[in-house]
Amino acid sequence: MYQFNKEDFMVKKKANNFQDIHVEDYLAEYECNFITSKTLMYDYNRKKQSLNGEWNFAVDQYDTCLRQKWFLEYYKDSQGFSLPVDFSFDTWPLINLPCSWNTIAPEFSIYDGPMVFTKCFNFSKEEHQNQKVFLKIGAVNYTARIFINKKYLGIHRGGSTPFYIDITDVILPENRIIIVADNTRRPEQVPTENTDWFNYGGVYRDVELIFTPEVFIKNFNVSLVKDNNFKNIQTNIELSEPVDGIACLKIDELGIEKQIQISGGKGSLIFEKENLELWSPENPKLYKVQIGYKNDELCDEIGFRQISVENQKILLNGIQIFLKGISCHEESVENGKALTDEERIENIKIAKELGCNFMRLAHYPHHENAARIADKLGLLLWEEVPVYWAIKFNRPATYMDAENQLKELILRDQNRASVIIWSVGNENADTDDRLAFMSNLAKTAHKLDSTRLVSAACLVDQINNKIADRLTDFLDVIGINEYYGWYNPDFEKLPQMLNNSAPDKPVIITEFGADALPELHGSETEKGNEEYQEWVYKKQTETLEKINFIQGMTPWILYDFRCPRRSSSIQKYYNRKGLLSPDKKYRKKAFYILQNFYKCK
Ligand code: GCU
Repeated sequence: MYQFNKEDFMVKKKANNFQDIHVEDYLAEYECNFITSKTLMYDYNRKKQSLNGEWNFAVDQYDTCLRQKWFLEYYKDSQGFSLPVDFSFDTWPLINLPCSWNTIAPEFSIYDGPMVFTKCFNFSKEEHQNQKVFLKIGAVNYTARIFINKKYLGIHRGGSTPFYIDITDVILPENRIIIVADNTRRPEQVPTENTDWFNYGGVYRDVELIFTPEVFIKNFNVSLVKDNNFKNIQTNIELSEPVDGIACLKIDELGIEKQIQISGGKGSLIFEKENLELWSPENPKLYKVQIGYKNDELCDEIGFRQISVENQKILLNGIQIFLKGISCHEESVENGKALTDEERIENIKIAKELGCNFMRLAHYPHHENAARIADKLGLLLWEEVPVYWAIKFNRPATYMDAENQLKELILRDQNRASVIIWSVGNENADTDDRLAFMSNLAKTAHKLDSTRLVSAACLVDQINNKIADRLTDFLDVIGINEYYGWYNPDFEKLPQMLNNSAPDKPVIITEFGADALPELHGSETEKGNEEYQEWVYKKQTETLEKINFIQGMTPWILYDFRCPRRSSSIQKYYNRKGLLSPDKKYRKKAFYILQNFYKCK
């Protein structure tokens, strides 16, 4: 019996009649060149060439591009005879990237699977002498395989974080780039094939070339030292090469100019500065910070603030704060997951009108601009990786995927004052495998960033009706999702649960709520109408208000969102727990209950 041997395939089909149609393990060839958080680089305000705009594309349900290696662009055989091919890159239809492909035409509205994108672009080596060139892709859901000029560059897994590829040695004056994006849901992925949100597919954040000096500042962070003095600033700088030298940090507004010794490509410095204007939602003060190394200069707008916990309290800049929040998915009716900045600004402005100082960006990393806008408008953020529900907690490769997404998120947003909490997941059964998996994620977050808090949205122990999730030992703040009055019909169990619980750290109620079809009215005893949702918000806020260890809440959710699991007559493939309609034009009655509650907090 012939045993499939990867070598056979890799050595290009020893048997004479061995065609691509017989290769079952065709993906094996692409399980290399993993693009991970190691490639992540700071690119804000760097010189760029956008590759956004028109791309040719084709739905590729059977992965034929990868099976037949379309990227080799073989149109003719060695004798020059034209070959029958199953693709025609430049006559395929056009799509404007970035976008969620589900929003471009009815026939793609519920498509899950591979799709091939290709674009030709010119590059002037003369204009970029002695520079390195990186390809940055802001996000592809879920798997992206990248090809340039007939070469396979690598694979990125993770649907919501940016990745970078050094293409200095492969870029030509005329180039063809191919991205094979595949949003197929799989049980071993993060998230798995089963979630409570719509699985938008696509290259849905910016695609651009980034130019840097030969040796450049790969990444850096600048923040307040977490010492309750609020006047010590720390910075860590990492160069692209393990070289020695001097970097400099300038904050002109503060009259600061410091030199940082770089050794082996890394350097750190802590220095004191009195009378810093601290960042807060009420006063979102940002300073222009410049970091330089030789001929490389980066600058960013950075806020200085401290977030910490003390017993059962959360402190912002040493002062207790109640996190008046709301949860929010990254979705709009018009653009799917490819929000515009205007839509992000609208979400934050509505949250602030609701009386929020806090927003939970559920359940995956949102666009980096969400945090940049929150920095400017003054809103604290919870950011999260999609370790959601029944992850393959016993599969090492799944852990590596989750940890990589967490690292990419932290390295991307580490200079955002608005971000105060990294969440390592949501609603996961308290098993031994899950405890190992998620406690390691929590340790990774703490190790990578000692200035922020680590949390997760945990579940109540339903048997004993109390907070008893073992993961909470590894968290700074406990997130709790509870749906008393909705999934748990006996509302009286909420006060009982709270009285049964004795957490030694602050708790944020990361979800409560109820479905309500916009403008459906009736008795407050009938689930699904606005009056019932309003009753739930009244009961929840009245009850939670009395509990000392509850230091925040992010009710579920700002606005209704698409959800393939929800097909009842009031849901119609939407989750209706929003306080607003999907297009955010209509506010349900519960909006005003929460608004009034926050006004009185
Ligand atoms: C869960 C889950 C959400 C989901 C919500 C709901 O708590 O975290 O993603 O949408 O409940 O059931 O509506």
